[in-house]
Amino acid sequence: MLRAKYQNVIDDLLSRYPVKQSALLPLLNLAQKEEGYVSQAAMKEIAGILDLTPPQVFETVTFYTMLSLKPIGKFHVQVCRSLMCALVGADNLLGWLQKHLGIGVGQTTQDKMFTLSAVECLGSCGTGPMFQINDDYYERLTEEKVGRILEDLRQTGDCAMKSGPFLL
Ligand code: FES
Repeated sequence: MLRAKYQNVIDDLLSRYPVKQSALLPLLNLAQKEEGYVSQAAMKEIAGILDLTPPQVFETVTFYTMLSLKPIGKFHVQVCRSLMCALVGADNLLGWLQKHLGIGVGQTTQDKMFTLSAVECLGSCGTGPMFQINDDYYERLTEEKVGRILEDLRQTGDCAMKSGPFLL
């Protein structure tokens, strides 16, 4: 349970907002980092902390693509498929990834390393095609760069080609 392990963190998050319900996304992010996805138990606990109903929490989880209701791979690859990225090759990028990873959109590799998602605009429209992997953006992607990024992540768990963190 989150409260048992993170009471101080939760108190700190709640203290940052005039209305405690505003801490919903940070708490969901905490739950996702803890378990790799947002479990039903976590949603119920967060609803209790924030005086929300479980359906209100569920609605939020299903709205944001960076949150997942089921276990995902160590690296969550989220490819932007919105207009500006589509114009510079987002479809090709998705195709390369499916080929390299051997999975389709919404699937996880057998070794549980990568989950592939197609998402809407990530706010990096001038540097497409691009994707977000966990908290990091990777931009102006080419087939060669994608291959190196996946290999670096497989081998070392990190990649120097990231553009910087995206923080929820
Ligand atoms: S359209 Fe891809 S980041 Fe905005």
